[in-house]
Amino acid sequence: MSNKLKILITGAQGMLGKDMAETFSDYQAILYDKDELDLTNFSKVKKELNKLKPNLIINCAAYTDVDQAKEQKDLANLINAEVVGNLAEICHDLDIILVQISTEYVFDGQNPIDYNEDSKTSAINVYGQSKALGEKLLIEKCNKYYLIRTSWLYGHNLQKGKTRGMNFIDTMLKLANEKDELNIVNNQFSKPTYTKDLAPAIKRLIVEKYDFGIYHLINENIISPYEFAQEIFKIKNINIKVNPISYTEYPTKIARPINAGLANTKFPKLRSWKEALRDYLK
Ligand SMILES: NC(=O)c1ccc[n+]([C@@H]2O[C@H](COP(=O)([O-])OP(=O)(O)OC[C@H]3O[C@@H](n4cnc5c(N)ncnc54)[C@H](OP(=O)(O)O)[C@@H]3O)[C@@H](O)[C@H]2O)c1
Repeated sequence: MSNKLKILITGAQGMLGKDMAETFSDYQAILYDKDELDLTNFSKVKKELNKLKPNLIINCAAYTDVDQAKEQKDLANLINAEVVGNLAEICHDLDIILVQISTEYVFDGQNPIDYNEDSKTSAINVYGQSKALGEKLLIEKCNKYYLIRTSWLYGHNLQKGKTRGMNFIDTMLKLANEKDELNIVNNQFSKPTYTKDLAPAIKRLIVEKYDFGIYHLINENIISPYEFAQEIFKIKNINIKVNPISYTEYPTKIARPINAGLANTKFPKLRSWKEALRDYLK
């Protein structure tokens, strides 16, 4: 795909959005976050897209506060579902390719094996339900889309919201400084994914013109937070006692999927979580 193409990245100040913008710096990328264009302002979005006429939109904007979504259901649905439906409708009308980012939280986590790209969604919390509704609207309203599910993201950019600015790795390193031992869940599973691996994979999908449709882009393989924490401390030579506990002993405000592995069956596999982690901690 020619790098003369006009690409609009929304949510460009977010954790993934910033890496996405860097990955596409050799393209004519337009970077928007809420300050430049509030995606919930549908009439303004339509006007702006008619004016810009990008060839492709990568929507990294989202409501991402999983816990808070329970109290802000309408806002989560507005940003994660209605906004996506509106973008999809406009993209269909203006012949723009839409890249939408989604999550393992669209699944209930009760599967004994990883979910593949065609698995039926079955979200168990408001955040997951809002993202699943966004997926449905995207698929209904436009044809030229890449729906990319990923999981447990970490990267060097912080999530923009000041109160939720730390990824799991940084949280572990901070806690190791403050405590003598840690209790970490060992029976809940997902695939932690480095944004510096995800962004170029998304670019490759677009540039190499993969078929439109659903993709699972994640670092391999599935692990628990306990296993992840142990590896973080091993790499950083931090001597701290880590006790495995059950998710039933760890109080959370909302239900989370227990076994949230995504299977990537349609794209070359990304490197292992251990390699990605080592790179992140370098
Ligand atoms: N983080 C994870 O572990 C994870 C896992 C799987 C999938 N995902 C998905 O990956 C994508 C990127 O996630 P992320 O963690 O990089 O998110 P993030 O850091 O929270 O960034 C989201 C961005 O969207 C912006 N935004 C929110 N409402 C907006 C609106 N109305 N108009 C325009 N922009 C708006 C936010 O701005 P404000 O902060 O100013 O609101 C923020 O800059 C999301 O689709 C998310 O669902 C994330």
